[in-house]
Amino acid sequence: MLCQHYEHIHEGADSAFSVDASNITFGAGCLAEAGDIAKSLGIARIAVFTDAGLVATEHVATVLNSLKAAGVDIALYDDVRVEPTDESFKAGTKFAMDANVDGFISVGGGSVIDTAKAANLYSTHPAEFLDYVNAPIGNAVPVPGPLKPHIACPTTSGTGSECTGIAVFDLLEMQAKTGIASKMLRPTRALIDPDATLTLPANVVAASAFDVLSHALESYTARPYTQRPAPSAPSARPSSQGANPWSDLGCAEALRLAGLYLERAVADANDIEARHQLMWASTLAGIAFGNAGCHAPHGMSYSVSGLVRDFQPAGYPLGEPIVPHGMSVIVNSPSVFRMTAADQPDRHLDGARFLGADVADAAPSEAGDALSERIIELMKATGMPNGLSGVGYGPDDVTSLVAGSINQRRLLDNAPMEIDEQILTTMYEGAISYW
Ligand SMILES: [Fe+2]
Repeated sequence: MLCQHYEHIHEGADSAFSVDASNITFGAGCLAEAGDIAKSLGIARIAVFTDAGLVATEHVATVLNSLKAAGVDIALYDDVRVEPTDESFKAGTKFAMDANVDGFISVGGGSVIDTAKAANLYSTHPAEFLDYVNAPIGNAVPVPGPLKPHIACPTTSGTGSECTGIAVFDLLEMQAKTGIASKMLRPTRALIDPDATLTLPANVVAASAFDVLSHALESYTARPYTQRPAPSAPSARPSSQGANPWSDLGCAEALRLAGLYLERAVADANDIEARHQLMWASTLAGIAFGNAGCHAPHGMSYSVSGLVRDFQPAGYPLGEPIVPHGMSVIVNSPSVFRMTAADQPDRHLDGARFLGADVADAAPSEAGDALSERIIELMKATGMPNGLSGVGYGPDDVTSLVAGSINQRRLLDNAPMEIDEQILTTMYEGAISYW
């Protein structure tokens, strides 16, 4: 049974949660609706954001044709950087300002959608770049008002960026991954066409699916909203408000679908049912973490991807070492959930059961192992790296991995336990290898 009990016993804690619903259209072929939707949003001239690898695909062609048929003027920007930086966000902003658009459409993965969010923000409400960036790296100035309409069209079943108000990037001068988080950044509409994932290589599907799986598990086990300090004003309640009854619903179903379809979607690109169901799981998990927030596995992932040495996974462009986002997250997850289960054994047992594990006879003290072992089983079955050692790190790297993520407080403070430097060290040490 879904555990939905939230006790209001913490003085000074929040006593309400908000549901920021995402306005989505889901279904095969729905990218062709882009023009009609843009028109209905009053957009006369639209910036189309995509990247060099996607610009010649049928997905972008479908969107462009639909916009043209609707009589919407197009300004095409195909220079989005995969793994965006402050520089690439600024370049996208300059394009948007010069192009003088009154709306945005992004066609791509999380990098493309996030870049369109940032370009929309800074071109609509110009400011010093660090003003809107999360503290402590930036000044965390609240976004002053609504942005221009943004239609997000994801082409991977992973990031969930189309449903969230978060844009992540690398701040080059500090070599740190950080982001901008505001409800105002959430795309106005999302067009989620599961057919867009049919051409993705198996390893890309697998990495994205584990991102989905961890979004759902982290949101489900996040510190409950009833334990987060009440906001200074209702309008200041963060999107990362902690686990709540609304996000629990999406997490449970996303995990059930991941447990059923993840292996199939990776094993066979022609398994349309599995790839479609995984896209729906991604959408549900995106809505959930957009309202609850992730925690330690994502907080720890920033240094795992940022300190990459020479890891080059199959299915990704050759030449540049990269730990894809989903891999940089999932290598941490089993170790984290082994530790966080002590605070919330019921929710960790729920997570294992949603993913298909038989935990009928498991004791609360076994919750962490039960969940971790089910994740590890799925990782092994789909060719994921064997923990941090599988992406090129060893015990000697733990100190730098900790230093690179200890400041990700927005994420670490959303965990169900207090995470200091010592705990973080133990979490990385436990993630070195799993089998
Ligand atoms: Fe993620």
